Amino acid sequence: MCGIVGYIGNTKASPILIDGLLKLEYRGYDSAGIATIEGPHIKCLKHKGRVKELQNIPEINSLEGHIGIAHTRWATHGKPSSINAHPHLDESKNFAVVHNGIIENYSQIKDFLTNAGYHFLSQTDTEVIPNLIHYYYYKEDENDNLRFVKAVNKAVSDLKGSYAIEVIFSFEPDKIIVARKDSPLVIGIKDDEKFVASDIPAILDYTNNIYILNDGDLVQVTKKSVTFYDIDLNVVKRTPEIITWDAKSADKNGYEDFMLKEIYEQPTAIRETIGTRLVKDAKCNFDDISIPKEYLSKVSRIYIVACGTAMHAGLAVKPILERLTSIPVEVDISSEFRYRKPLIDKNTLIICISQSGETADTIAALKNAKQIGSKTIAISNVIGSSITREADYTIYTHAGPEIAVASTKAYTCQITVLSLLAIYFAEVLGIENEEILSALKNEILELPSKVSITLENTDLIKEFAKRIYKEKDIFFLGRGTDFAVAKEASLKLKEISYIHSDAYQSGELKHGPIALIEDDVTVVGIITDRRLLDKSVSNLQEVITRGAKTLLVTNQNVDKDVFPNIINIPKVHPLLSPILSIIPLQLLAYYVSKEKGLDVDKPRNLAKSVTVE
Ligand code: AGP
Repeated sequence: MCGIVGYIGNTKASPILIDGLLKLEYRGYDSAGIATIEGPHIKCLKHKGRVKELQNIPEINSLEGHIGIAHTRWATHGKPSSINAHPHLDESKNFAVVHNGIIENYSQIKDFLTNAGYHFLSQTDTEVIPNLIHYYYYKEDENDNLRFVKAVNKAVSDLKGSYAIEVIFSFEPDKIIVARKDSPLVIGIKDDEKFVASDIPAILDYTNNIYILNDGDLVQVTKKSVTFYDIDLNVVKRTPEIITWDAKSADKNGYEDFMLKEIYEQPTAIRETIGTRLVKDAKCNFDDISIPKEYLSKVSRIYIVACGTAMHAGLAVKPILERLTSIPVEVDISSEFRYRKPLIDKNTLIICISQSGETADTIAALKNAKQIGSKTIAISNVIGSSITREADYTIYTHAGPEIAVASTKAYTCQITVLSLLAIYFAEVLGIENEEILSALKNEILELPSKVSITLENTDLIKEFAKRIYKEKDIFFLGRGTDFAVAKEASLKLKEISYIHSDAYQSGELKHGPIALIEDDVTVVGIITDRRLLDKSVSNLQEVITRGAKTLLVTNQNVDKDVFPNIINIPKVHPLLSPILSIIPLQLLAYYVSKEKGLDVDKPRNLAKSVTVE
């Protein structure tokens, strides 16, 4: 979604701002803009399209100011255009604002300001903000040196919805005011330079000493200081965090695309996610969340709530959680869960999964569940993300920054950490026999090397991608955890290759979908559970008989005459197989997209984190 960058210091702001915007490109956007303070004026340049087009505006080279704000916009209110792009200025052109989020009551504010004589140029919700600040600024005492801060505080107090904003003001060219509610924002500090961003990778090249803002924070940023205020404008103390990722890990590191790099990072990401939670011959360690046994033993149901790939990780771990804890598990889509009245109570444990930790529907679902009295666990990959601030407990995956819109390493790390959690619950509850727990634990420790082996096997995938990239429909079939992987494989393919695809439980084929099978249609089968081998093979034979060509991902012995295209993956316990079986299918989606010449990392219409409903 939208991205924010800001800079104040002793050097030209524009190259730093543009660099930050380029680092945020992965979030998805449709227009970009920049505003700097040049002498007594604000200079604002905006363009529909990519940051590259903004860079091509000749005037960009004349920006000399040492303070500025910049933005990449993903349209919500008003179509993508230069006028609707951020920054937005007030009518006097002295205040400039960039904004992430949605102002739900913008039309009431617009009416109010219109009646007060203000005029608007754009169709956005954001444009009310600089005008509202202007309105309040001129109501404050002109001798008050907190006049600007007070005006911004009053303006944000009127806003309903979500926002992360940066404001600059041509009459006070030594400060940026920032504020956040339900939308991420960070401030990096380094000597006499300060950097603002919606995402840490945008500024990591400059500093790793970073404040992560809380909801409700209002901050005055100058070259030399960062001052946090609460809602009553009392100064509050905050401590910056040292971010341990290096800037390189947010770079492509020699790979052609972030997605490919992230696919190949999975052995390391999984190893890091296992970390000290599991060491040989010991119990699983989740002491950091310390969920009491008394509570766990009363849990009557677990809900896993998430969107997209994160929800598919939930589908993949439902079997292991149910098998090891004997607690029924429901998996729900956040946007559905939050608007129906789920039958949950204080004995329901809600696990919300979100790579970014900023997905609006998942955060709202978690808040709803908390209000009803359920306990909540957030599984997130981003330290300090919004969801981790709302949840009762947080468990981090340690996948490292995931930049490509299509999620890969976050998914396998989510399954890894939730499998460990299932074992931990079983150990705390003392309800599962030691033999299966220790078998699973040993298998989890072997996963990083098995993932590495799986990643070596790419020739057939590349060749098959060449055969199918022009197709219109592709089908994925599986049973049990293999069906969960089929869903994820289908999503991966459609989001980056734009080929329509669907996933079905193999046993459902005869109840309708088989009508779609005709000569040369592609069906991808996944078989990793020996108990289900014969039945799954029969289902695939039914489509072969009707002319389908198949690709089979398996670790079972199958007849090579029936299945000419087999991708073998290492043997693994069926409850853990999604971590391996998805990998060839992530690669298949990647190579199909490459064959089509598409932008793998930034597929059309999609954003990395969906921070609006
Ligand atoms: C994954 O490839 C997708 N881009 C998308 O489905 C994503 O998983 C979903 O939007 C949830 O994001 P989150 O994990 O950051 O909450």
